[in-house]
Amino acid sequence: MVAENSVTMNDLIYPIFVEEEITERVEIETMPGVYRVPEGSLHDEITEIHREGVKAIMLFGVSHHKSEYGHDTWAENGLLSRMIRTAKNAAPELIVISDNCFCEYTTHSHCGVLRDGQIDNDLTCRNLSLQAVAAARAGADMVAPSAMMDGQVASMRAALDEAGFSGTPIMAYSSKFASSFYGPFRGAAGSELNGDRKSYQMGHLNGREALRESLLDEIEGADLLMVKPGLPYLDVLTRLRQRTLLPLVAYQVSGEYSMIKFAAKAGAIDEKMVVRETLGAFKRAGADLILTYFARDIAREGF
Ligand code: PBG
Repeated sequence: MVAENSVTMNDLIYPIFVEEEITERVEIETMPGVYRVPEGSLHDEITEIHREGVKAIMLFGVSHHKSEYGHDTWAENGLLSRMIRTAKNAAPELIVISDNCFCEYTTHSHCGVLRDGQIDNDLTCRNLSLQAVAAARAGADMVAPSAMMDGQVASMRAALDEAGFSGTPIMAYSSKFASSFYGPFRGAAGSELNGDRKSYQMGHLNGREALRESLLDEIEGADLLMVKPGLPYLDVLTRLRQRTLLPLVAYQVSGEYSMIKFAAKAGAIDEKMVVRETLGAFKRAGADLILTYFARDIAREGF
């Protein structure tokens, strides 16, 4: 009766890895219970996920057509567009969000255009805009830029409006840290790289700068703001909650998932209770929505 917060399936977004040109689903060793789904099984998988009660998904492609610029992401018949079309076809009412980045589609695994060992911010924004329009054309309900380029939201908003998609919202990965908690994801998505992403993702010692990044995205036209990873950055989430009226999203990332899974497997913690506690913590800290690999388990088991 006096609970200040609650979590329901309406709040959860389930990330899915989709791989082209494979026939069997592959379990990700570092993320027990999470699989790379073969593209050919995506339709059935989505139908099942939706039937189980998941209301929204985020799609990640595992590409076999990587290139220097990641142009497969904006090809009308590239993996990104095909996944979105298949998902919307399988479950028209499911909210389908596309992660807009390049690391899963470039040969060097950086999140944008690499020139003389440096990321070309503005060229990457241009390519992200092409990608956003391709995603919207394929039927994405929302686009989510995660490359952390300066100006990426403004550039995508302008391109979407010009292409007739003024109604497509942007969920900005706005306070995204250069985090070691992404380790398992990079294995899952095949985006391991030499070096790091510290020239475009946030340094973990900087809270005020993370707020600036999010507030700039709001000015550029973001419709939702995100803090990522989740649990180690609850302070950023709370401080952002006090400074914006936009909906906020927390991403419980791959490393957070793995820590809970492996600790539970070792008998150290009660998985179900710990998962519920972490989701409650995101809500208490100010999140409206939560991206979590546990969403499907929760749909099956209830709260
Ligand atoms: C970039 C992207 C990443 C994640 C989501 N989108 C990887 C990165 O920035 O290195 C990580 C998610 C996770 O760890 O669960 N496309």
